[in-house]
Amino acid sequence: MNQNLEVIILAAGLGTRMKSSTIKILHRAAGRPIVDYVLDLANELCSTPPVMIIGHQREKVQEAIGERARFAVQEEQLGTGHAVLQAATVLGDTNKRVLILSGDVPLTRRETLQRLIEEHERSGNALTLLTMKLDDPAMYGRIVRDESGTVVRIVEAKDASDEQKRINEVNAGIYVFNGEHLFGNLRNLRPENAQKEYYLTDLLAVIRNAGHRVGAVIADDPVEALGVNSRGELAQVEQEIQRRVVERLLSEGVTFRNPSTVVIDSTVTIGKDTVVYPFVTLEGTTRIGEDCVIEPGSHLVNVTIGNDVHVKTGTVAEDAEIADGASVGPYAHLRPGSKLGRKVKVGNFVETKKAVFGDGAKASHLSYIGDAEVGADVNIGAGTITCNYDGVNKHKTILEDGVFVGSDTQLVAPVRVGKGAYVGAGSTITKDVPAGALALSRTPQKTVEGWAARKKAGK
Ligand code: UD1
Ligand code: CA
Repeated sequence: MNQNLEVIILAAGLGTRMKSSTIKILHRAAGRPIVDYVLDLANELCSTPPVMIIGHQREKVQEAIGERARFAVQEEQLGTGHAVLQAATVLGDTNKRVLILSGDVPLTRRETLQRLIEEHERSGNALTLLTMKLDDPAMYGRIVRDESGTVVRIVEAKDASDEQKRINEVNAGIYVFNGEHLFGNLRNLRPENAQKEYYLTDLLAVIRNAGHRVGAVIADDPVEALGVNSRGELAQVEQEIQRRVVERLLSEGVTFRNPSTVVIDSTVTIGKDTVVYPFVTLEGTTRIGEDCVIEPGSHLVNVTIGNDVHVKTGTVAEDAEIADGASVGPYAHLRPGSKLGRKVKVGNFVETKKAVFGDGAKASHLSYIGDAEVGADVNIGAGTITCNYDGVNKHKTILEDGVFVGSDTQLVAPVRVGKGAYVGAGSTITKDVPAGALALSRTPQKTVEGWAARKKAGK
């Protein structure tokens, strides 16, 4: 953690090419707004919160970021130089090092920024910037070096000569300045260029011409400077974040049978020896323990899973908890408030909602269990339905420990079945059942001998 560092994050631009009513830094990639990744970097490097330059949709941005940054407003987007100057209202004329990042460039690695800062100190530079080499330098600022290889200036693509346009080393938009060379020089900038903007990049030549050292660090991997300006780039960024998440999980002992088909948020954790099948989607605060199997087509959002859990094909779960040794699916639907105890079995085509299952309870086939407390070792037969809603209010069903519910039963809530009681198959249970009793509400069977033959004979 660097005490002698301040971080500025540029985030005033709207991002017109996103074709969105939401400012681009709040678009989400792998479960988080892209600016969150930049804030993480700032927090890992610097002990004081970064200064974020905001303009478009500033209330939304401030609300999303809260205490994680200090804010300086840029009323009009007059260029990157003008944007950085606004930080002077928060930082004053600081003599610290100032690291400048962009809110829409989320893939930079901490190691790369550390290397940039180390190089800055080692060389005694007043300014050190991050550059990269690209086959297609496109609209990036070009790095002009002299015969000795020293960086002398940055030329924006729109201001570059044909010869300069052929330079393939470009400005990544990430800089370390000595504070004393930053704000004073920014105040002297002129917008004399093709875009009539105040260019932060002009400071390089200014600082150098004043006799101070400037230098550059070339990033190994150009993806680190990839910015989000369009939906295409957002998709690329999301894919790269997911690739890194999977790479980390693989190194921590998780098996992915086909990692490129898995959609996973950066907020998800998975324990070792868990196997993730193809076409699984894991979102939000989902936490999966060790030795689990997550089969194809499962979609888990904010689900906490213990160890040794089997989530079978096509299971959908949200805001749910599944304890050790449980088995869910195929095609189960755990809705918010579902909590399954140890070794619970929820089988195919079972839907649960606000339902707490005690250890060892089973609902193996075709059931709806909502607003229910299911005790330990309860067995719920196929097709059992909790009738929890009377059209106005929701009511609770309680099945105490060891209850056996026969198939095709309706439990009309509010209703309680006492410890160890039996409910006969096909019953409609409207009244509480005492512990140890048998409840049966079936109409008695009628059998008419020889009926089929008489029907066929028309009698
Ligand atoms: C800038 C650099 C260019 C570099 C490129 C890397 C300048 C003049 N050029 O170009 O050399 O190759 O980044 O991506 O700096 N912003 C504001 N207020 C403004 C203008 C911009 O906050 O008035 C913010 C944007 O929201 C964005 C960042 O600054 O987060 C960069 O701005 P952008 O317009 O994308 O810079 P480029 O023109 O691409
Ligand atoms: Ca621009």
